[in-house]
Amino acid sequence: MTSLAGRHAIVTAGPTIEAIDPVRFLSNRSSGRQGYAIAEALADLGASVTLVSGPTCLDAPSGVTRLDVESARDMLAAVVAKLPADIFIAVAAVADWRPARAADRKSDKAGQTTLQLVENPDILRHVAGLEQPRRPGLVIGFAAETHDVLDRARAKRLRKGCDWIVANDVSGDAMGGNENAAILITSETETAWPRASKSRIAEQLAVAVSRHLAKA
Ligand code: PMT
Repeated sequence: MTSLAGRHAIVTAGPTIEAIDPVRFLSNRSSGRQGYAIAEALADLGASVTLVSGPTCLDAPSGVTRLDVESARDMLAAVVAKLPADIFIAVAAVADWRPARAADRKSDKAGQTTLQLVENPDILRHVAGLEQPRRPGLVIGFAAETHDVLDRARAKRLRKGCDWIVANDVSGDAMGGNENAAILITSETETAWPRASKSRIAEQLAVAVSRHLAKA
C-alpha cells in the first residue's frame, strides 16, 4: 500500500454550533465519526494529520493533532492557520447560517420569536479557491444529500471548486450513525463504496488519496 509519509493532511469533522445566546445554539446531527475515522486512516498511512473538530463526544485518534472549535468562523480560522497542507478533506457538517447577532444575555421567552440568520463562510470553497502554493494539492469535499444524491454531488464538486467530492446519502442514519455508504466522484471516475463501517469507508478514501498522490 502507498504511504502518506511526509504529507500533511487537514480534516474537518463534526458539527459546528452557532450561538443564539449564552445558552442556546443552532447545530446539526453530525457525530464526527466519519471525519475522525478519515483522520485516523490517513495517520495510519503515515500522514501528519490536523483534525479541526466541532464539538463531539469522541477522543482524538492516536497520532492525530486535534484542534477544537465551535463555530464555522472558528473552523475556517483554524484551517487557514494550519495551512500549508498537501491534502484537505472537508467532512464537517458546517452550519450554513448563523444568527445575525448572538445575544449577550439569555433571551426572554417573551422576547423576539424570529431569528435573523446570515450566511457562514464556506470553508471548502475558500480552501479550494486559494492560489498555489497555499492551495492543498488535493482538496476533497463531502456532499450530504437527501435526494438526487449523485446529480447534486456532481454539481457541488464544480460549484465548490474541489478536486474530488464524496457523495453521501444522509436520508437514513449516515449522519450520526456508525455506518455509511458513499460514492467518490473525481473529474474522471465515480466509485461506489457499499454500506460499511465508517472506518472502512475512511480506509478506502485514504487508499485512493495515497494512490493519487503517488501518481501526481
Ligand atoms: O459526523 P458523522 O455523524 O459521522 O456524519 C458524517 C457526515 C454525514 C456529516 C459526513 O459524511 C458528510 O457528509 N459531511 C458533509 C456534511 C455537509 O455539510 O455537507 P454539505 O453538502 O452541506 O456541504 C458540502 C461540503 O462543503 C462539505 O464538505 C462541507 O464540509 C463543506 N462546507 C459546507 C458549508 C460551509 N459553510 N463550509 C464548508 O466547508
